[in-house]
Amino acid sequence: MDIKLLKTEAEKDLTLSKDLKDLDDIFRKYLGKKGSIAEIFNSLAEMSKKDRIKAGKEANELKSFLIDKINQKRLDLAETIKGKEQWIDISLPAKGPKTGHLHPLTLIKRKVSEIFESMGFSYIEGPEIENEFYNFDALNIPKDHPARDAWDTFYLDKGLLLRTHTSPVQVRFMEKNNPPLRIFVPGRVFRHEATDASHEVNFYQIEGLMVGKDVSTANFKAVIKEFFSRFFGKKIEIRLRPSFFPFVEPGFEVDISCVVCKGKGCSVCSKTGWVEIMGAGMVHPNVLKASGINPKFWQGFAFGIGIDRLAMMKYKINDIRLFYSSDLRFLEQF
Ligand code: PHE
Repeated sequence: MDIKLLKTEAEKDLTLSKDLKDLDDIFRKYLGKKGSIAEIFNSLAEMSKKDRIKAGKEANELKSFLIDKINQKRLDLAETIKGKEQWIDISLPAKGPKTGHLHPLTLIKRKVSEIFESMGFSYIEGPEIENEFYNFDALNIPKDHPARDAWDTFYLDKGLLLRTHTSPVQVRFMEKNNPPLRIFVPGRVFRHEATDASHEVNFYQIEGLMVGKDVSTANFKAVIKEFFSRFFGKKIEIRLRPSFFPFVEPGFEVDISCVVCKGKGCSVCSKTGWVEIMGAGMVHPNVLKASGINPKFWQGFAFGIGIDRLAMMKYKINDIRLFYSSDLRFLEQF
């Protein structure tokens, strides 16, 4: 075996070695029990005396040369590893685990709740699976009446359905509680319709109901104007337009001055300066009767606000479907 060649090969291996494992391999290859140097020593016996002395000397030199080199390389490697470790600032606080946070619709619901509660309204809930009586009949929407079509209903078995609005909770509450009363009812509602940027098959509403001896439209206007101004944190103009819902009389649609352009006209308000945000009206006498309350002595207002619409206005979001997309890139912004 050519000792010079062996030395060159070993030096090349050492240069290429990257870690302690490589060094162990090199050690084994050249200095191990069955390594190249051991092989040379084993072959000495077969050599002539002259050759044996020369080869023995060279092999010994190579052996100590390699031991030195490997040790040196081991120290160098340890130094770079240490260098890398020192680069990490161990005094920095560790990154905390990622925690969840509230959904934008939940944030809006909480904000709305806080405002209505401060105005003396109580938080009430009702079932998402309803029957036709509460969702329609008791709300003065007779069977086979065309107005029923206005709510694209998901029907279930046995006269049950997914509620199309939170209004049935008005009746459920009035059946069990005597006026005067003031409630708000946040909840999920369902509509069987094609989705687009402003329509979803499920969304959230907040129903409001206030009944007393002489609760009037003027009270409604005051409450709702106060609500919107507090919700958006600035003065908001409102506008009532006559509209029809079978469970109110008179009924109106409420617009608010566009929060985005302050009424000047932009894409959010379709250049009108106003945004339609809720349906409302004075509770129809038939609804009071169906709930066991005498309309001769009691009257009140009811309204239904779209929570998703509120959230879209507040956060300037132009597609309702984003709320239900579970897209973390969207959700992590709130
Ligand atoms: N329930 C109506 C809807 O979903 C909104 C509404 C509520 C209108 C209360 C008037 C009074 O469209």
